[in-house]
Amino acid sequence: MPNDKSAVTAPKPSSLPERIAAGKIAYGKTCFACHQANGEGVTNAFPPLAASDYLNADVNRAIDIVLHGKTGEITVNGKKYNSVMTAQTLTDDEIANVLTYVYSSWEIVKKM
Ligand code: HEC
Repeated sequence: MPNDKSAVTAPKPSSLPERIAAGKIAYGKTCFACHQANGEGVTNAFPPLAASDYLNADVNRAIDIVLHGKTGEITVNGKKYNSVMTAQTLTDDEIANVLTYVYSSWEIVKKM
């Protein structure tokens, strides 16, 4: 009997602390310039990620934004933004890491 267990070679999943650490580095290289060190954004220019109701509402939309960028009017925590975020050139793994970092770093969804 051939032992075909070896045919299954899924990549080794990273642990949560590994993802957060890698995501922090990726955040500092890519997102930080616009969304700022603590995800607070810049008023009227770059929406916040920290405590963002928009980010927290839909994780798939967040992945899509990092993959493809975002234009057009959006409302984040009651404030309107209408700007352009370019698509970020990250691998799927880096996107997973950076969003894991974002979702686990700052207070998410503060009721105003
Ligand atoms: C060049 C500046 C820039 C960079 C770099 C950038 N963004 Fe953005 N981002 C924006 C702008 C501008 C918007 C709002 C777009 C609009 O008005 O439609 C936005 C919107 C978002 C949103 C949805 C709104 C919100 O605040 O929840 C998310 C999520 C997001 N960015 C995540 C990221 C992540 C994660 C990275 C790094 C991988 C990143 N962005 C890098 C400028 C940037």
